[in-house]
Amino acid sequence: MILVTGGAGYIGSHFVLYCKEHGEQPIVLDNLVYGHKEAVPAGVPLIVGDMGDPKLLDEIFTRYPIDAVVHFAAYAYVGESVTDPAKYYLNNTVATLAVLEAMRRHGVNKFIFSSTCATYGNPVTVPMDELHPQAPINPYGQSKYFVEQILKAYSLAYSLKFVALRYFNAAGGDPEGRIGESHDPETHLIPIALQVAQGKRPQISVFGTDYDTPDGTCIRDYIHILDLAQAHQLALKRLREGADSDIFNLGSEQGYSVNEVLRICEKVSGRKIARVNEPRRAGDPPRLVASAAKARAVLGWAPTFQNLDAIIETAWKWEEKRHY
Ligand code: UFG
Repeated sequence: MILVTGGAGYIGSHFVLYCKEHGEQPIVLDNLVYGHKEAVPAGVPLIVGDMGDPKLLDEIFTRYPIDAVVHFAAYAYVGESVTDPAKYYLNNTVATLAVLEAMRRHGVNKFIFSSTCATYGNPVTVPMDELHPQAPINPYGQSKYFVEQILKAYSLAYSLKFVALRYFNAAGGDPEGRIGESHDPETHLIPIALQVAQGKRPQISVFGTDYDTPDGTCIRDYIHILDLAQAHQLALKRLREGADSDIFNLGSEQGYSVNEVLRICEKVSGRKIARVNEPRRAGDPPRLVASAAKARAVLGWAPTFQNLDAIIETAWKWEEKRHY
């Protein structure tokens, strides 16, 4: 059985659905601060509580035959992490330590960690592979970077085996539209653009048009949420087969500018998206594109969503019928 922390959140809930449909038995621990109970599929136990609570963790590890933890639970607003860093270090780093300690007490030694390209900071070389220097430029990225360091030390000193997966920009939703991206507040480009297309918002701000990129707007690497889910399952399989701890980037290896994303959102929705040009958003690197060659070679990972149109189609399907 797998304990999925943050399994009611955007990325976690898609993993839970994926693993349920691939013969695994997930159990979700989520405090529902940002997660949605509706995102957890029927039949999957949902424990509402704090992952930093050792007593609750002891109860969970005693009650369920858990052999691995897939750890999504985290706050993920980069801007908020700058204005309220304590919230990020306490939740993303310190509470993660409580999970690792509970695993140690209960002899559970397999851990899949949601890391991020934000641990790299500003790009020195593009595409970025796993050896790119790590110099996070905000507390969110640092909070994840610290966990990676803790995992390396635990892996050397104790029996822990981990895989850290550094995601680039997660996007899209369940192709059947059962679950999807739902943040409150929403800050991400694709859902905001599609909500403008629907008339739920008057316009979208384009943050920065003077970057050193072909059209002046920021370039990102968007990877479909189910391709992320697949990578977690492959990583877990590898640990179960006895592999050593490791770290992988997960991205599509293709960069799209903000303007290109908006153009595809217009194409997919068939609607015009009103936009206003605004100054740059603090902390946005100009260009983030992954090299995911290692995940392909070592995990046998093969992303199924090959272009951004297909990814945005699933996001549009969700926006059209969203229920949370
Ligand atoms: N953008 C706009 N207008 C908007 C929203 C976004 O122009 O209304 C731009 C951003 O400035 C950025 C691009 O669209 O250039 C993508 O922005 P997102 O907010 O969708 O995604 P980010 O690249 O900022 O963030 C993602 C993850 C974070 C993670 C970060 C790592 O969502 O959790 O990558 O860099 F920390």
